[in-house]
Amino acid sequence: MKFIKSSILVLVLLSGFSFINTTLNSKEIEPYVLDIPTGFPEPVIPENNQLTTSRIELGRMLFYDPVLSVDSSISCASCHKQSLGFADDKKISPGVEGRLAMRNAPTLTNVAYNPTLLFDGFLETLEMQVLVPIEEHPEFANNIVEISKKLAKDTLYSRLSIEAYNRKIDPFVITRSISAFERTLISGNSKYDQQVFQKKKVMNKSEKRGMNLFFKELECASCHAGFNFTNFTTQNNGLYEVYSDSGRQRVTKLKEDRAMFKVPTLRNIALTAPYMHDGSIESLEEVITHYESGGKNHPNKSEKIQPFLLTKRERKDLVNFLKCLTDDSFITNPDFSNPFD
Ligand code: HEC
Ligand code: HEC
Repeated sequence: MKFIKSSILVLVLLSGFSFINTTLNSKEIEPYVLDIPTGFPEPVIPENNQLTTSRIELGRMLFYDPVLSVDSSISCASCHKQSLGFADDKKISPGVEGRLAMRNAPTLTNVAYNPTLLFDGFLETLEMQVLVPIEEHPEFANNIVEISKKLAKDTLYSRLSIEAYNRKIDPFVITRSISAFERTLISGNSKYDQQVFQKKKVMNKSEKRGMNLFFKELECASCHAGFNFTNFTTQNNGLYEVYSDSGRQRVTKLKEDRAMFKVPTLRNIALTAPYMHDGSIESLEEVITHYESGGKNHPNKSEKIQPFLLTKRERKDLVNFLKCLTDDSFITNPDFSNPFD
């Protein structure tokens, strides 16, 4: 019997799990409906990982649980902090034993919408991405099979896993549930949203002048476009003549992708300093100074990056507009906070 069960498990593991949903028979399965802000499309939710309350709750616990790191010292939330828009205030966030990787921890704001993940767009699903910090030496330096064994001894996690996915806790459950939680991290209630989509008069004159600069007079919105302030492409914005990080070229091996990085969302941008893939720019004022300079001459620099000059007041207006993208209800939402507190 035991043998049959485990061979079914192997079959399930190999089959891509496409029938998981139809096999759910737990009484606890409660579909979860995302609250989509006005002006936002519906994010794509994978067939085999539809959102339910118990999946999200399990994922939230794992996201905040240091048990995922090899010495139980840090969790996902050590580098993706809710109060900082699920980013960090360090240039490079330390992993276990203070080990440092090479990139700045990005925000997880509206990550459900990202067609690719990581600064170079290496991965296409959140489920795959979960494995990166778990296994990477400068992050958790752990092994997901070992973590599964450890969690299987925990009665609470074991029960939640059955409730959520109708199976024992394993790599499938860990990667799926954390992704389910991440897909709920939707932010669309900033001052900007209230002004533009909810038709409330909340933005002051300076902020509106900044908005005009951003959308009309400057090129910002040609890359930071649409509801999530990104056109989801990779671009070079001229930070260096020579980059130490090869950017998207790491993935495609193409010369034209050298030092190309994903255009990041600007939502909650006032909370996520320092900026850029390497955290090399400390403030929004300095980001604007960078763009005013027209950037360094990199062969892949976008032609949209051209020098311009703002007055002191305009510079302040633009910063004030960017601050309107902070969503206080997002960073204080109790559904996203540490469940162990
Ligand atoms: C030590 C700090 C650290 C820890 C711990 C960490 N991350 Fe990250 N995270 C990063 C960095 C740095 C990147 C960017 C890496 C890159 O682009 O190569 C990143 C990228 C991501 C992305 C991609 C976002 C995007 O839009 O491209 C997601 C999603 C993510 N992390 C989720 C998680 C989850 C889930 C965990 C826990 C399992 C976790 N992170 C743990 C630092 C961390
Ligand atoms: C050609 C496309 C393009 C244009 C135009 C552009 N950006 Fe960017 N922006 C990017 C890319 C790509 C990055 C990330 C670069 C990196 O990580 O090295 C970025 C990063 C940023 C960041 C830091 C984001 C973070 O989370 O670290 C801010 C802020 C920003 N841009 C604001 C602006 C403003 C304001 C303008 C207009 C003056 C503008 N951008 C114009 C492509 C562009």
